Amino acid sequence: MNPKINCSNHLTDKNRINLGSFYTPHKYVKLIEQWLSKEQIDSSYVIGDLTCGGGAFFKLKDKFAQNKFIGNDIDEYALNTAKTYFPFVTYSCLNAFSNVCRVKFGIKSDKKLIIVGNPPYNDTTSLINGSLKKELFHIDEDIKTRDLGISALLSYNKLNADYVAVLHPLSYLIKQANFKLGERFFKNYKILDHVVFNSQEFENTSKLSAFPVIAVLYKRQVSNGLNYQSIKTFQFHTIEGISFSLKDRDYISDYIEKYPHKKRYTPEILFYTQRDINALKRGKTFLTTRTSAAVDVNPKQLPLYCYLDCFKRYAVIPYFLGNFNVPFIKNEFQTIEKDVVTISRYYHQNIFGESKKPEQQKIENVRSYIEKVVSFI
Ligand SMILES: C[S@@+](CC[C@H](N)C(=O)[O-])C[C@H]1O[C@@H](n2cnc3c(N)ncnc32)[C@H](O)[C@@H]1O
Repeated sequence: MNPKINCSNHLTDKNRINLGSFYTPHKYVKLIEQWLSKEQIDSSYVIGDLTCGGGAFFKLKDKFAQNKFIGNDIDEYALNTAKTYFPFVTYSCLNAFSNVCRVKFGIKSDKKLIIVGNPPYNDTTSLINGSLKKELFHIDEDIKTRDLGISALLSYNKLNADYVAVLHPLSYLIKQANFKLGERFFKNYKILDHVVFNSQEFENTSKLSAFPVIAVLYKRQVSNGLNYQSIKTFQFHTIEGISFSLKDRDYISDYIEKYPHKKRYTPEILFYTQRDINALKRGKTFLTTRTSAAVDVNPKQLPLYCYLDCFKRYAVIPYFLGNFNVPFIKNEFQTIEKDVVTISRYYHQNIFGESKKPEQQKIENVRSYIEKVVSFI
């Protein structure tokens, strides 16, 4: 396979992030090909990639030789690469997020439609690389969200796609706030096949932190698709053969305050705002001074915050848990409750005062509890 199809080296780091130009490795196109082959896909289906980049998904032609393919991308250079390798595709160079309708892409209203691809994901509010990100193009109001990838899903719903076979961050499904943003898509689609893999499999991602991506085949099922309850019990599978579900664990965030609030306690103990595991690993825990991100800790819940502090210190996290809230096993927590406080006190003496070094046994106890919590094998 020619490397140009899967590689966006013509772009600067800044433009690659703004356009979300991380192209799909061939093995995931192959996987999607296998999933689609199990469906009754005849030549009446149009197959479209509206953010096609170098055209990685047009290799599907090998299997779906009789189908019409359409391709679109805002990046003319990438489009020229696709045109070179996949001349059978009908191309356009348009903003896929503006004036979203079938006519724009030359798809008749009565045609069956399969959307494939890997839309740009770009959370405009996220702090990582935030300085590089900006809104580059107009997005229709009815599909506008803070993340381009979620807007892309909403556009597929607007286009009435019968199947959607795409790659997107797992967080769109498992984070309730994201799921809500994409709800108008999710409620009309059910999952037929999927696999979760590490974002680091995309080229040019070495400077970006790893997060779980899902390659997934959705089928349209109007008003009978996904709801968040079904996601909570959904069994996800990774490319490495590990299965996991949100319901397998308890989550600290269900028992503490995650965000700054107005309650005040004595003694004053401050903790950094909590998001997901990846954010905890990057961010801070106990704070010495009040900032706008400071959460006041209810002293009765101190062990739970100390657990977060120890989790940050000791947990070795598989990439697929990166967007989870911090898990724990509630009914076994009393076995480490005192130890996590001893450890955090020692490491944050500027907050808790002079504290003696915890015995190694206490550390081992906490470590093995955390190991059990993050182990899904
Ligand atoms: C993650 S890449 C995927 C490329 C290709 N589908 C693949 O899977 O390899 C995202 C693509 O979206 C394109 N893109 C970003 N914003 C766009 C927009 N507003 N309209 C059309 N394409 C856009 C980028 O140029 C980039 O090629």
